[in-house]
Amino acid sequence: MRIAVVNGPNLQLLGQREPEIYGTSTLADINGELEASGKELGAQLEFFQSNSEGALLDYIAEAARRVDGFVVNPGALTHTSVALRDALVGVGRPFVEVHLSNPAARESFRQRSYLSGAALGVVSGFGPRSYRLGLEGLVAVLRAPQNPRASGRSD
Ligand code: DQA
Repeated sequence: MRIAVVNGPNLQLLGQREPEIYGTSTLADINGELEASGKELGAQLEFFQSNSEGALLDYIAEAARRVDGFVVNPGALTHTSVALRDALVGVGRPFVEVHLSNPAARESFRQRSYLSGAALGVVSGFGPRSYRLGLEGLVAVLRAPQNPRASGRSD
């Protein structure tokens, strides 16, 4: 099983960015821990971060040929990007939306997610653990093909 972990704008700044909200772990720390979780769960991970919406869309289209699903922290694109939602829906792989913070408990402009309605599930508010929890959920569903929402890779 292969899973892509995708991070959107400004998540490369983790560690220094608003630590009172996002904590002090860097993206490299988070990805390192996830890599270990992936091994425990029997999933091979690949990682991608970009501040560019277009680069994210291109990556998703290309990665979908080889991965079974996505764990995505879309950053601020959560609240603005129909294109990111369309890309994830368009490739036909299940994805889990994750957030370090709980956007529902923050400013009103963070209350809307363009992705949640198309996601297999959403994990928010657990800091770096949100990624691990999202990965666990995704792997579990991909291993339970009776779940109609688990449309993993068939080739
Ligand atoms: C975030 C929440 C978003 O509202 C914000 O724009 C981010 C990070 C999170 O992980 O909590 O960039 O996705």
